[in-house]
Amino acid sequence: MRLRHITGSEEKIYECPIVIKDYKENKGKWNSVFSNENPIFIEIGMGKGKFIIENAIRYPERNFIGIERYSTVLLKATFKIASMAEIPANLKLICMDASELPEVFEKDEVSGIYLNFSDPWPKDRHAKRRLPSRNFLSLYEKVLKPEGCVEFKTDNKGLFDFAMEELAPAGWETEYVSYDLHADDKAMKDNIMTEYEEKFSALGNPIYKYIIKKNKH
Ligand SMILES: C[S@@+](CC[C@H](N)C(=O)[O-])C[C@H]1O[C@@H](n2cnc3c(N)ncnc32)[C@H](O)[C@@H]1O
Repeated sequence: MRLRHITGSEEKIYECPIVIKDYKENKGKWNSVFSNENPIFIEIGMGKGKFIIENAIRYPERNFIGIERYSTVLLKATFKIASMAEIPANLKLICMDASELPEVFEKDEVSGIYLNFSDPWPKDRHAKRRLPSRNFLSLYEKVLKPEGCVEFKTDNKGLFDFAMEELAPAGWETEYVSYDLHADDKAMKDNIMTEYEEKFSALGNPIYKYIIKKNKH
């Protein structure tokens, strides 16, 4: 994603009431932040927020937390939220890097994780920075319920092949795999498009998706 710095974005994001500043203080207490016991789903690398906002509207009985490491990008999501007639009560946003996850969520506190169009980091030496790498899978395992899933979508074949290869060594198995999500009518019934998905599927690129779970043994 091409980034243009927006002066003051580090502070401006907190003018939006659903952006949580002292997020590490809520470790193990996220349900009290939402004032309910509903399951918590997180999107890592939410970008401008279309996917997580639409999820929050569609599933009021679930809680959603969008995570984005750049305040400049998160700020754009806050503009979208400011233009809404009603801010969903089941949505919070955090400006942080995914590497901090175990400092922010307690073991078993998260019911599901979404990774959408994650940065590919094409150089081999940067493989550890890829969000579907075994490095990050081990962090997801620390916060996700045992039955919880990670759902990943991308149009980048190289990144998807890499993500698939990471599963067995990291002890995960697939529940669903598609090399052309948009041709799968059943899966598309529930699909919520991200900003990148709209852009790249409009160009005719196939969208790859997996849903994975931790191995039981
Ligand atoms: C290519 S964009 C995709 C945005 C959105 N998910 C979509 O599909 O339209 C990837 C986003 O992930 C964010 N990101 C990448 N690595 C991250 C990390 N380690 N922690 C948090 N956010 C990250 C980037 O800043 C960027 O906004």
